[in-house]
Amino acid sequence: MVDILTLTRDFEKDLSAAKTQAAVRAVREKYLSRKSGRISVELRALASSPPQERRTLGSNLNGLKLRAEEQLDAAERALASAPPADAIDVTLPGRTPLVGHRHPLTLLRERVEQIFLRMGFLIVEGPELEDDYHNFEALNMPPEHPARDMQDTLYLASPISGAAPGRAATLLRTHTSGMQIRHMETHQPPVRLIAPGRVYRRDGLDLTHSPMFTQVEALVVDDGITLADLKGTVVTLAHELFGADRGTRFRPSFFPYTEPSAELDITCHACGGTGRAPKEPSAPKRDGGGTREGGCTMCKGTGWIEVLGSGMVHPAVFEAVGYDPERYTGFAFGVGIERLALLKWGIEDIRLFYENDLRFLEQFPL
Ligand code: DAH
Repeated sequence: MVDILTLTRDFEKDLSAAKTQAAVRAVREKYLSRKSGRISVELRALASSPPQERRTLGSNLNGLKLRAEEQLDAAERALASAPPADAIDVTLPGRTPLVGHRHPLTLLRERVEQIFLRMGFLIVEGPELEDDYHNFEALNMPPEHPARDMQDTLYLASPISGAAPGRAATLLRTHTSGMQIRHMETHQPPVRLIAPGRVYRRDGLDLTHSPMFTQVEALVVDDGITLADLKGTVVTLAHELFGADRGTRFRPSFFPYTEPSAELDITCHACGGTGRAPKEPSAPKRDGGGTREGGCTMCKGTGWIEVLGSGMVHPAVFEAVGYDPERYTGFAFGVGIERLALLKWGIEDIRLFYENDLRFLEQFPL
């Protein structure tokens, strides 16, 4: 006698293993095909079974047949409406593409460029391989001039001609000031430009120094340019970058290519310009930091932080480029982008800008 339980279990096992429409059809064949289906065969065999068993067995077998048909139909419907294996589920949330970030130094350079574009300045760029004439001599620093010691220069092992228009390059530019000369050599006043770019010095890499860093040079030359124009321009820059509430001051200084020369200071963000140690000692720093003798360590107790060097273009510079120093006056300044970034974002280690650690770089607004 047929074991209905085994037949049921076999059927259900086969059906649950059928994952495609073809497989389900094969299960239907195996159990229900008219000639050889296992259920059909048992139904036909009913006629020869003992009469006392026929009734129960018949209703069990018919019940199984009905359930099997229902389950097969349901399985076929489910498979017919299921998406093919390679279908795209358009309701899934999209994969967010990785968007790169501009480097903080790039962000800040572009910010500075925007500020000067709005004031009508031209942006120029020039060679990083430079000659002695443009980097030093034409800027009123003849050979043996002691001011050359202010900057430790990286010299090339042998001169490279054609690296920059004019003379053979012998060094890596130590500042962007050479662009003043390059532009005035080839253009007549009025001049109103900024020249951003990389500069190089024979310095080790530490908290505040890098052998390569970024400057922006500015130069304005025309009839009647005065110190007031210089001051208005650099104070505007400082206020745009650091907020209009930051205090500014001009402090007399010296550069061979400007006379008079001045450095621009802004009030210290750490002590608010008081020079006193902030009440809460600042976070521990690598240098042991905190506070020193009760004074603010950020500004060394002065309340002021140096931002840039500037001055009125020296007549010797005009003479070097063939401008009439009796007729024209001008101002110039140079500012370090890294320095601005350290001050703006309160970063304590310049090396972070060059290590390309995404955890650092991703913290800056796009
Ligand atoms: N070249 C100077 C430096 O690298 C910065 C500078 C100072 C540029 C005074 C100027 C200026 O144009 O007038 O430190």
